[in-house]
Amino acid sequence: MNKDPEKLFVAMVGLPARGKSTIAVKLKENLRKDAIKTRIFNNGQLRRRLMRKNTSYPEFYNPNNREGVELREKIARINIERAKSYLEREGNIAILDATNVSFNRRNMIMDLANKYPLLFIECINNDEQILEASIRRKIILPEFQHLSEESAMHSFKQRISYYKSIYNRLGREKNFVRLDSLNNKILKEEIHDSLPYYDRIRDFLVTDSVSNFFLIRHGETYFNLENRIGGDSPLTEKGKSQASALARYFQKKSIPVIFTSEKIRTVETAEPIKELQEHCSIIPLSEFNEIDSGVCEAMSYEEIKKRMPSIYASRKLDKYNYVYPGGEGYVTMQGRIDRGIKKALYLSGNAANIMIVGHRAVNRMILSHFLYRRKEDVPYIYIPQDKFYHIIATQDKKLFQLKRFEPLSKA
Ligand code: F6P
Repeated sequence: MNKDPEKLFVAMVGLPARGKSTIAVKLKENLRKDAIKTRIFNNGQLRRRLMRKNTSYPEFYNPNNREGVELREKIARINIERAKSYLEREGNIAILDATNVSFNRRNMIMDLANKYPLLFIECINNDEQILEASIRRKIILPEFQHLSEESAMHSFKQRISYYKSIYNRLGREKNFVRLDSLNNKILKEEIHDSLPYYDRIRDFLVTDSVSNFFLIRHGETYFNLENRIGGDSPLTEKGKSQASALARYFQKKSIPVIFTSEKIRTVETAEPIKELQEHCSIIPLSEFNEIDSGVCEAMSYEEIKKRMPSIYASRKLDKYNYVYPGGEGYVTMQGRIDRGIKKALYLSGNAANIMIVGHRAVNRMILSHFLYRRKEDVPYIYIPQDKFYHIIATQDKKLFQLKRFEPLSKA
């Protein structure tokens, strides 16, 4: 049968809390910019709309619970039919956003959707820390409100384990991509039909996309005053007033999460910002801790030069590749910084604004993740404490702007 060249069914596949909905929403936003009419058909949302009774308890998802299975299958059918009629009318792409983890369910999609080309996108992510944080975000939904946080966590994990018990990996399907959704990496790709829009979709899946990313360095610390490196110094009065100025600057924007390092100075900078937001949480990530300067921790640059001249000289010679004895170098930070960025983007979901409060060396590495710089220039990128970087990096727009957040004081 000749399939319509302008229409495409996309079916997400994966366990709960693997980033499927985030990808679906971002995909839709991107495609719409090119006037490709896209709509998402989410089974969870439809279930919550149609079912009067509570369907959040884990047993509802037990594959041996006939009633639960039938109800979920019914919801899936309704959504596929709705998606089909959307494509029959004006739609170009219909995205089925559900777990779709079993062969049975996918066979049903293939049968019902057979008039249109069909692409499966499987999302995989087994990072325990990310999963834990994603589940914590899920249980904010009203359907969990009658439970304590811990029981809601338990209930959601039980739901996941039921899905695991019926999970069949993609493999027999004609067109599919298996995606490491944390690292935007395609793990397997089998495309046997000519799928409309696939070049755009594929490129989107492997691109880090941030609509508004605010990269901030912590305010001034006591160590900064003495030119000392590393350590865990708190903010000075000036540092605190920089944090308050940042808070006022961002008050009118919605910042749902602020990622920091585990150091006092970044958390102290984030706290006043959080205070002026309606809903905001701070997530400290060890990946954003400042470069570990090993034997030089807490020393000033002058002391290093005097007491450890060979360290000082070697670092000056090749700052990017130099690794402090017992510590790190820019070169060895790369892996953890990339991991931190992936975590922050993943946990931000579809937030319009993402914020990281980091350190000098860390922020240089984060910047260079989005903006190409020769490696030897990265350790010299300008990272002031009275300005922040505003970054936009989407499939069709790149912007880097250094912005001042408090008025210049008169000289
Ligand atoms: O001085 C502040 C600081 O963040 C130190 O903790 C860190 O060692 C240093 O900056 C990194 O900058 P550079 O690589 O230029 O020494």
